[in-house]
Amino acid sequence: MDREIIAIYPGSFDPVTNGHLDIIERGSGIFDRVIVAVLVNIAKDPLFTLEERLEMLRDATARWPNVVIDTFDGLLVSYAAERHARVILRGIRAVTDFEYEFQMALMNRRMSPGIETVFMVPSEAYSYLSSSLVKEVSALGGSVTGLVPTDVERHLKIRIQRKESGREV
Ligand code: COA
Repeated sequence: MDREIIAIYPGSFDPVTNGHLDIIERGSGIFDRVIVAVLVNIAKDPLFTLEERLEMLRDATARWPNVVIDTFDGLLVSYAAERHARVILRGIRAVTDFEYEFQMALMNRRMSPGIETVFMVPSEAYSYLSSSLVKEVSALGGSVTGLVPTDVERHLKIRIQRKESGREV
């Protein structure tokens, strides 16, 4: 039972970037299944609704048949156990990511020793990338071409125009 190795790739994905997709692609080449799990309750006051984030992720990952998109709430390790996942997949972009990731990995191991955290390194082209930076650059009129999928770029432009005209949060 549970012979296949399922990995959970958790995050807020507000919005998904090419850096996330780079990790998802690498993960999908190694694990039998990758579940991209979007955290429901984020304290970060997201730009995109949960549904929008899910839709953008589904579109961007449709080319990988062993990647599924889901949501989760509460403890990540409980969700991983529910989905019979043995691996938590995280991307490490730079040394600055390490301390936080190290703490999370050890805390998760303390709660659930059977679940391993696996770190992968994205392409160096994305090593400086974050969702916050993408939103900031986009809001200030800069180009994010090549940093996010074309569809996400379009959604960003629309959302920011609406925000500016005060029509929508
Ligand atoms: N390429 C580009 N950007 C990346 C990236 C990559 N490969 N990997 C991470 N990032 C960015 C994200 O875009 C995000 O940027 P932002 O802060 O500008 O939005 C940032 O790095 C980190 O965000 P994210 O990957 O979404 O993780 P997080 O730190 O918001 O959330 C969870 C981490 C969801 C894994 C964690 O909060 C969690 O497990 N929560 C559930 C509750 C729980 O179990 N808590 C106990 C944990 S020990």
